[in-house]
Amino acid sequence: MDLPFEPYRIKVVERIQRVERPEREQLLREAGYNLFRIPSAAIYIDLLTDSGTSAMSDRQWAALMTGDEAYACSRSFDDFTAAIRDIFGYTHVIPTHQGRAAESILFSVACRRGDVVPNNTHFDTTRANVEHVGAIALDCVIDEGLDPGLDHPFKGNMSLAKLEAAFRRYGRERIPFVMLTITNNSGGGQPVSLANVREVSAYCHEQGVPLLFDACRYAENAWFIQQREPGCAGMSVKQIAREVFACGDGCTMSAKKDALVNIGGFLCLNDDGWAQAATNLLILFEGFPTYGGMAGRDLAAVAQGLREGLEEEYLAYRIGQVARLGRAITRLGVPILQPVGGHAVYIDARTALPHIPQSEFPAQAFAAALYLEGGVRAVEIGSLMFEHRDPDGGALVHPTMELVRLAVPRRVYTHSQLDYVAEACGRVAELKERLQGLEIAWQPPVLRHFTARLRPVGGGELIASPATI
Ligand SMILES: Cc1ncc(COP(=O)(O)O)c(C=O)c1O
Repeated sequence: MDLPFEPYRIKVVERIQRVERPEREQLLREAGYNLFRIPSAAIYIDLLTDSGTSAMSDRQWAALMTGDEAYACSRSFDDFTAAIRDIFGYTHVIPTHQGRAAESILFSVACRRGDVVPNNTHFDTTRANVEHVGAIALDCVIDEGLDPGLDHPFKGNMSLAKLEAAFRRYGRERIPFVMLTITNNSGGGQPVSLANVREVSAYCHEQGVPLLFDACRYAENAWFIQQREPGCAGMSVKQIAREVFACGDGCTMSAKKDALVNIGGFLCLNDDGWAQAATNLLILFEGFPTYGGMAGRDLAAVAQGLREGLEEEYLAYRIGQVARLGRAITRLGVPILQPVGGHAVYIDARTALPHIPQSEFPAQAFAAALYLEGGVRAVEIGSLMFEHRDPDGGALVHPTMELVRLAVPRRVYTHSQLDYVAEACGRVAELKERLQGLEIAWQPPVLRHFTARLRPVGGGELIASPATI
């Protein structure tokens, strides 16, 4: 039986509806072929993101009711910091409203113009926040992590050779810290091994540079380590997570992922000076140090969610469900990034649609067609999101991979709903040359994928009728 067992039963349900195809067609056109602009009521299965979309448990809802809304030194903040210290072990805990606020504070405090921040792969908001302070975001993932068809247990690993080359090229003085994103979202939700964490940590500390984690999906990463890394099967997921964090000096965290909440985040730091400077900015932009950007009840829900996110039965079901979706899509002949990541299946749009060049956003075209065909919302992780100018030469750089990410919200969709998604993906892949590329009609200066408007290349239809090709 290929059905990862759900370690819960359903207590509350939310109705969803599928709008008819002609309406979807009109909505897509009005949205400029950008799925971020489609009203959620017109989405049947929403796999835009796993961020902030989890179903909270009865215990989390109960925690909301008992949240302490005191402005200063609330009981909920104590619960929040206790849960975080128990897992992450860092000295200073700084609550923020979500992950990017933690990033913005960190980079403002620790980076100067011209600095360089190496990461395995920066997420879009991380890259944008690094660049916002005039620093350079450098991706150093292993080469295996850039080959969508290649099977490797830890494709999120950082290449030590690339990291060393960065230190040689830019010098230690321009590198304020190194980051590791666990799991590596932009690289396909791929895990980083404990061995890689240890070797990167040893190198950073040899250089006198701190190592920080982008820790959003740390529990899923720890589960992969337990399942795949020699010598780790006997450790609990929590022990592994502690071991990972003990190799670093702090982290940014979007609690909207592995802390199973709809809003929240935090920054952890060991360095007293950075923590003081971060707290100064926190008070200016987020809130008092014991609530930051969150209500007391949200702090309480994060504390409970962190405990639940490490439960091994839950993680086996969670990652099993995503893997099952990957298998169903593969069976229909749609190429996906292998192996399947922790939180999402990533369709390899360059392979699926070889007739659409990267300049015409093949992954965005696939995602738009998936909405048209099935009312399913996914997100492009390709040139629309990551095309950028080379910081050295100014040339236009396309990302190596053009991916359509089907991010699975935690504890939300059933196996049969995801089977429906797989079928819709199969139908889109069958369109082949009928599916047209897209061009930009309008774009903002930063993070364009959120709000840009596109149109089919040459002003035709997204899906050409068979007679016209
Ligand atoms: C790896 C990674 N880092 C940072 C963020 C930003 O977190 P938030 O959306 O809470 O600002 C995300 C969000 O998806 C992410 O996946």
